[in-house]
Amino acid sequence: MMRFLDNFSALPLLLPLPLPLVPLVLHPSFFLLSLNLPSFLWLWRIAAWSMGLSLAIYVLLMATGGWLAFSRVNSHPRPKWLRPLHYVMGGTLVGLVLLLLAVGLVGTVGYYGGLGHSPHLPAGLAVVSLTLLSAWSASQMSPKRPWARSLHVGTNIALFIGFALVSLTGWLVVQKYLP
Ligand code: HEM
Ligand code: HEM
Repeated sequence: MMRFLDNFSALPLLLPLPLPLVPLVLHPSFFLLSLNLPSFLWLWRIAAWSMGLSLAIYVLLMATGGWLAFSRVNSHPRPKWLRPLHYVMGGTLVGLVLLLLAVGLVGTVGYYGGLGHSPHLPAGLAVVSLTLLSAWSASQMSPKRPWARSLHVGTNIALFIGFALVSLTGWLVVQKYLP
């Protein structure tokens, strides 16, 4: 029973998320619950938190990035803190996605002794690559390199699809373990 309650300690974090995303974000912990692997509990709890945070940060990056673009196009002054905030949140997203990759790899290798059991693997790798590409393109952004801005916006649109696919395939993989 304690373990059951433990798995719901991530619930407060899920409150600001759009309702359809909540079951997806919760799922790594359900996965563990049904497998009954107490030694991996901490791993899947980290996964649940990181995924919830990643999605929330993605939405915030979309908002602050949109604001940056709007102020640039309309030559509006922008608050001093806006760009650093976008940058710090971007760095956080990179960290979280790498953490999710590590948790996914360690959890899967720990349980199966190998990788590549479903389309979740390519989806996960795509999300990690796109996030890194997005961060790199951001570092290249300058008036002399207009392609960097297009690349940044393009990778971030692809990243939206990537997040949807990784959640969907992760969700499907979880179904295998449900009674
Ligand atoms: C992956 C980590 C990310 C980093 C390090 C990052 C960093 C940056 C930087 C440095 C800029 C330039 C700001 C300026 O013009 O002064 C920028 C612009 C922008 N970012 Fe990001 N960002 C990241 C992720 C995202 C994501 C996920 C989105 C959208 C969902 C996004 C949307 C935008 C938009 C729309 C702009 C404005 C482009 C323009 O001026 O037309 N960024 N970002
Ligand atoms: C950015 C987000 C994520 C990344 C980068 C990621 C990455 C990975 C990777 C690389 C694996 C190993 C897959 C394999 O070798 O077959 C994995 C496994 C797994 N992931 Fe994720 N993951 C993410 C999000 C999620 C989400 C949202 C869920 C649940 C809804 C989830 C549930 C699982 C499960 C259950 C496994 C075990 C795989 C299996 O049994 O075949 N992951 N993850």
